[in-house]
Amino acid sequence: MVDLIRKKRDGQKLSKEEIDFFINGYVKGEIPDYQVSALMMAIFFKGMDDEETGQLTQAMLHSGEVLDLSAIKGFKVDKHSTGGVGDKTSLVLAPMVASLGVPVAKMSGRGLGHTGGTIDKLESFPGFSTAITNEQFIHNVNTVGISIMGQTKDLAPADKLLYALRDVTATVDNMSLIASSIMSKKLAAGADGIVLDVKSGSGAFMKNDKDAFELAEKMVAIGKHAGVKTMAVVSDMDQPLGRAVGNAMEVKEAIDTLNGKGPEDLRELCLTLGSHMVTFAGKASSTEEARKMLEENLSNNKALDKLADFIGAQGGKREDVYDPSNLPKASKTLEFTADKDCYVSSIMSEEVGISSLLLGGGRRSKEDIIDLSVGIYLSKKVGEKCSKGETVATLYGNDDAKLSDALERLKGAYTFSDQEVSKNRLIKGIVE
Ligand code: URA
Repeated sequence: MVDLIRKKRDGQKLSKEEIDFFINGYVKGEIPDYQVSALMMAIFFKGMDDEETGQLTQAMLHSGEVLDLSAIKGFKVDKHSTGGVGDKTSLVLAPMVASLGVPVAKMSGRGLGHTGGTIDKLESFPGFSTAITNEQFIHNVNTVGISIMGQTKDLAPADKLLYALRDVTATVDNMSLIASSIMSKKLAAGADGIVLDVKSGSGAFMKNDKDAFELAEKMVAIGKHAGVKTMAVVSDMDQPLGRAVGNAMEVKEAIDTLNGKGPEDLRELCLTLGSHMVTFAGKASSTEEARKMLEENLSNNKALDKLADFIGAQGGKREDVYDPSNLPKASKTLEFTADKDCYVSSIMSEEVGISSLLLGGGRRSKEDIIDLSVGIYLSKKVGEKCSKGETVATLYGNDDAKLSDALERLKGAYTFSDQEVSKNRLIKGIVE
């Protein structure tokens, strides 16, 4: 291990055998954290080339169980977002594509820090559970067309260990380490195709477009090299996606979108990602055709019905999809109003996420219990005009002290301008 650390420290390339050696040794507990930490820091400074990144991905992917989804009929397409604020895309996208007969077998996670997680959001439906066995998961995809489960502890265990170590050694934000971490889990989850949503902006890992495209290219290359059809959409995270931030509030916005009444940016992102998923699965001959099919299923309620089937099959009540008044609701509100006529010039997503965390809607540590009812509704987004006294955003909470702390934080997330401001471009590009 000392030789490996020295080699990388001096900027040399690690061989496949060396990468396999440290991953296997670490998972078996034979190599201590302090040596792996030193290696991570050396990689952070000296980087890894594409071959090393691919080999690291493969070593982590094979460090545990690799799901066999061959019992699911049809071409399985998975979707992954690199994470953001207000990102409820999966809640809309999964039923949308499943309504066209594309099987959706998805593993999702919980929220941590300023970002949310699909599983927490789904648990806003009373009774809903993602704690199902692999057999139930496969059965539900074959019968309902869609299932979402929590990531099993046996999937890519090397990544779980390494990610926890990187988190406390300031070595998370390295392109090769992020790409291999995400792709090892995605590839272990067994899909035939992967559509990636790589976020770029203040609320994302990648703060600018150049880095976001580089990460997208690395992940697409890893996927293709592993024989899995992979593409990426690079999308804006310089402000939250949609207008709702907070678990049950995001579910409600996802339902609105499936009802044709959601925010335009969320609908557009879902149609873009969805049309690639449907085309990958061979259900349409072009993304334009796929888009038309998806639009049709949004207007004829088939996508909404698919969400109801899915919620019903995993312990929730179908009716809650059609009448979301059963979802958790906060008891108090606090408004953020404009103190003069102005335009919104920016909204720092991360700060909005932290404001929601302060309301009780997020976790500081993995053990925290979250309040699914709280959140923030952004009435004004970048480029929109506010008149003096008009509501910019509304906070929903259950505790006055938390509401006022969250309001202060939210105020700091916004900047305003006297001049007109252009709107953010949502889709920054496609990497195929
Ligand atoms: N998400 C992951 O799963 N891994 C990373 O390294 C960063 C984000």
